[in-house]
Amino acid sequence: MKSLIFFVALLSLLSLATITKSQDPTFLYDSCSNETTYKSNSTYQANLNLLLSSLVSNATRNNLNGFYNSSLGLDPDDVHGLFLCRGDVSKNACQNCVALAAKEVTQRCPVEKVVVLWYDLCLLRYSNWAFFSTMDQEQGVTLVNTQNIAYEPERFNRLVATTMNDTVTQATSAMSGAKKFAVKEVYFNEFINLYSLVQCTPDLSTSDCNRCLRIAISSLPSCCSQRAGARVLYPSCNIRYETYEFYNTTAVAAESPPPPPPVIRAPLPSPVSKPKGWN
Ligand SMILES: *[C@@H]1O[C@H](CO)[C@@H](O)[C@H](O)[C@H]1NC(C)=O
Ligand SMILES: *[C@@H]1O[C@H](CO)[C@@H](O)[C@H](O)[C@H]1NC(C)=O
Ligand SMILES: *[C@@H]1O[C@H](CO)[C@@H](O)[C@H](O)[C@H]1NC(C)=O
Ligand SMILES: *[C@@H]1O[C@H](CO)[C@@H](O)[C@H](O)[C@H]1NC(C)=O
Ligand SMILES: *[C@@H]1O[C@H](CO)[C@@H](O)[C@H](O)[C@H]1NC(C)=O
Ligand SMILES: *[C@@H]1O[C@H](CO)[C@@H](O)[C@H](O)[C@H]1NC(C)=O
Repeated sequence: MKSLIFFVALLSLLSLATITKSQDPTFLYDSCSNETTYKSNSTYQANLNLLLSSLVSNATRNNLNGFYNSSLGLDPDDVHGLFLCRGDVSKNACQNCVALAAKEVTQRCPVEKVVVLWYDLCLLRYSNWAFFSTMDQEQGVTLVNTQNIAYEPERFNRLVATTMNDTVTQATSAMSGAKKFAVKEVYFNEFINLYSLVQCTPDLSTSDCNRCLRIAISSLPSCCSQRAGARVLYPSCNIRYETYEFYNTTAVAAESPPPPPPVIRAPLPSPVSKPKGWN
């Protein structure tokens, strides 16, 4: 079994960059194990190139919910890949991000067969193993906002924990085939609001999604106590919180399901029937 790769990086500059250009894909981290590699001009490389272009072209398709998985080629040269776009990004921004990832991946991981690439707005992953529907939180990275919460940090930590819990509940109650994605904005004090986001690849079962997100959340106290922001990125799920609006609230609001239909009640007595003299 692969050992846990766990890095903590300080990325306040990246966080600041995302304030101004929230729809520009920013590279965050790559994981490419050199345990399995392919040769230049091999069948695997040809299959991988086909797979990457199929992922990019499929990123513009409607009804994909920002997620697509695909397999190509015959054993032993079969390659399996997917992309996942952050739940609030538009179809175009999603494709931009997947296209950038597909272009950069061959420079960042030129010979490796097993690859995960994280960007701000999307994730690209492929492997010589059919990993779909299998939870993976073994490789990952934690990115920490360098700013601290100076005032009532313990209450802030607790608010992060309870809010994250709520978003997990929301993300895992999504209907089958829908995005496993949720955000939540809560008030901390007069100056600070907390913005939280969680997401799983939708090929995961509800219980695996729940498990993956809870593992991510449980790592927060040790890495990120009192931090004004943090992200935990795994291949199968990711979480993030900040004290600024890092996701597109308009897009999220437009996507959330309409409120349930009003409960039908017995008609109220009409004013006409009101006994005279009341009020
Ligand atoms: C794989 O990477 C490790 C650490 O970066 C290095 O020590 C090792 O030599 C590499 N193995 C191969 C086959 O390139
Ligand atoms: C790969 O193919 C290209 C073009 O066919 C050739 O120029 C190059 O030398 C080949 N590389 C290897 C490592 O075989
Ligand atoms: C999507 O991917 C499939 C293979 O998985 C491929 O046949 C198709 O050309 C791709 N592009 C679009 C736009 O569907
Ligand atoms: C994506 O993965 C699911 C689950 O393994 C599978 O049923 C489906 O066929 C895959 N889609 C493609 C295009 O390979
Ligand atoms: C979050 O939810 C888990 C499981 O439902 C529960 O054990 C834990 O106490 C909750 N934590 C907070 C801070 O609400
Ligand atoms: C946020 O989403 C809305 C609705 O999808 C879109 O019109 C707007 O351009 C987005 N804002 C940014 C900064 O991308």
